[in-house]
Amino acid sequence: MKMTIHTLQSKKGVEKITAVTAYDALFASLFDAQTDVILVGDSLNMSFGGKEDTLSITLEEMIYHTKSVCIGAKKSFIIADMPFGSYQNSKMAVKNALKFYQKTSADAIKLEGGKERSESVRAIVKEGVAVIGHIGLMPQFARSEGGYKIKGRSEKEASKLIDDALAIEDAGASMIVLEGIASEVSNHITQKLKIPTIGIGSGKKCDGQILVWSDMMGFFQRFKPKFVRRYLDGATLIQEALQKYVQDVKSENFPSLEESY
Ligand code: KIV
Repeated sequence: MKMTIHTLQSKKGVEKITAVTAYDALFASLFDAQTDVILVGDSLNMSFGGKEDTLSITLEEMIYHTKSVCIGAKKSFIIADMPFGSYQNSKMAVKNALKFYQKTSADAIKLEGGKERSESVRAIVKEGVAVIGHIGLMPQFARSEGGYKIKGRSEKEASKLIDDALAIEDAGASMIVLEGIASEVSNHITQKLKIPTIGIGSGKKCDGQILVWSDMMGFFQRFKPKFVRRYLDGATLIQEALQKYVQDVKSENFPSLEESY
């Protein structure tokens, strides 16, 4: 059965929500229905695009990848990231959010920001597009903030995060991603909000967890954030398999008679 926002919301306080990223039809089809949510994250720009940050991915590129994921995954709830620069004001945010609904079958869009984004969230929701918030460590701000900084370690930061979460919920967001937030603060936000919180590097008390798939499967090796648990040594497995193929070709062990016409 297709996962809906109502089912996801009904899991709050009952059962943890599971989420992972995907960027293409092939892997989306492998992940489909295994996790409640699939996010077409703009992390794509780093993990598969080889870029330093998420900022340069375009709306058209995000729509292309979201379309592919929607072809591969028919059961999980699909969220698409609005890229940097595509939602600077409410009018622009609505226009570009509508594009995701018109051109893909994503179930919701996600955008980064707190109180200052609440009017855009409200305007998008009003037009009938489900919105997922994203506060705390916001990768789209990493360049202007001079790096990836954990949030909520001071009282001032903690109280801003709580205000931001409440503002995004009040604006009509269906769920909210809490990234890189001190566990005590994300726990507090999770208890305060009616909508589910999905954590990444924000401790175990969030209503759900999300990881970037190439991080958790050990394919992305440039760096490993503390919060990532590797469930597979993907890069080594691939490289070993490829080496075997190369040896087989060189030694004329491949193709065999059975593999030839
Ligand atoms: O782009 C992404 O993959 C994300 C997750 C890190 C939540 O936004």
